[in-house]
Amino acid sequence: MRYAPVTERLAGLGGAKWEVHMLARRMAAAGEPVIELTIGEPDVPTPPALMDTAAAAMRAGRTGYSNGRGEPGLVAALADRYTARRGRRIDRNQIMCFPGTQTTLYAVLNALVSTGDEVLVGDPMYATYEGLIRSTGATVVPVPLRPAAGFRMQPADVAPRITPRSRVLFLNSPHNPTGAVLSRDDLTALCGIAQDHDLWLLCDEVYEDLLFPGTTFASPLDLPEFAERVIVASSISKSHAAPGFRSGWCVGPAEFCSRLLPLSETMLFGSQPFIADMTAAAVSAPSPIAADMMARFHRRALLIRDALHGRNGLAVHIPQAGMFALLDIRATGMTGDAFARTLLAEAKVATMPGESFGTALTGWLRLSLTQPDDRIAEACARIATFAARKVAA
Ligand SMILES: Cc1ncc(COP(=O)(O)O)c(C=O)c1O
Repeated sequence: MRYAPVTERLAGLGGAKWEVHMLARRMAAAGEPVIELTIGEPDVPTPPALMDTAAAAMRAGRTGYSNGRGEPGLVAALADRYTARRGRRIDRNQIMCFPGTQTTLYAVLNALVSTGDEVLVGDPMYATYEGLIRSTGATVVPVPLRPAAGFRMQPADVAPRITPRSRVLFLNSPHNPTGAVLSRDDLTALCGIAQDHDLWLLCDEVYEDLLFPGTTFASPLDLPEFAERVIVASSISKSHAAPGFRSGWCVGPAEFCSRLLPLSETMLFGSQPFIADMTAAAVSAPSPIAADMMARFHRRALLIRDALHGRNGLAVHIPQAGMFALLDIRATGMTGDAFARTLLAEAKVATMPGESFGTALTGWLRLSLTQPDDRIAEACARIATFAARKVAA
């Protein structure tokens, strides 16, 4: 049988990146004492009051069809939230709701680019970005994010990669997997480049509410002079520990949103009104759990640093936000992939190889901060022993 080229463009992208994680899950299911530091699922439940809101809405009959933009109550709540946070008026016609950031990014990119176009994106990048871009037919143009610059995208690394085919500069701040947060100055410079070359600037802000102490968040939406080309995507997945509810959105120029509407209607025929009601409640008040999650994740990043940094040539990168720390294992002479696989087999600690996020993290591991402190401490002890053996070998 014949298939469309998109199936070839995406073939092999999903599974290979997650192999260590899937293997770890199989080992754990077979009773092996695996400590899983792979994916970043919040380690707290969704706030009960929000689940009550969803359940009450369901019982109140909020189970019918919606529309392609989003339930009016949620659209209004998001417009109010972004107006308050970004210090300038964001109207309802600048909002579009989707089932999560992932779907939002898929729809947005499919509205902006297609075959022959190029999307500039930081390397390392969140594991699904390559597939998101490739799904459109566009080409991924990686922009190296350098450890020496705190993994913040540097304008000098973007400029030489721009061609007449460039269409979108795709940012992620706070960043997964590096935890880097772009400053207002960074964003001004990057938006300036986008303007000079008539690019869209798309920013995934799903970790906005998980900032570590001393870090200030800035959004390209803070910069009104670039408003006609800025689109931001986010969700309640991280801020409210609610990834399974699949509730996200984008904010952008009104004209862009009206162009996106038919795509949303075609893809989704609307989302679930009871989840929209819950999301409206979530975004209308500060998250009741974000501060506590932030404190725990930050404490665990420091715990990993204290246990591993400088031992056997290992180096720990402390994130500015998010759910992950990075471990530089290049001193062992192994790739991240080889280290992660052998570490899992020999020491029963599951980590994500840096290579799952692009070429720039070859020889690194990403460690999730969502396990309890004692499990993280035990994982670090196993990693230290394992690294000592590998360095000595
Ligand atoms: C950077 C980034 N963007 C998007 C997502 C997916 O978010 P959502 O659950 O809102 O689709 C994740 C999930 O881990 C992520 O890390």
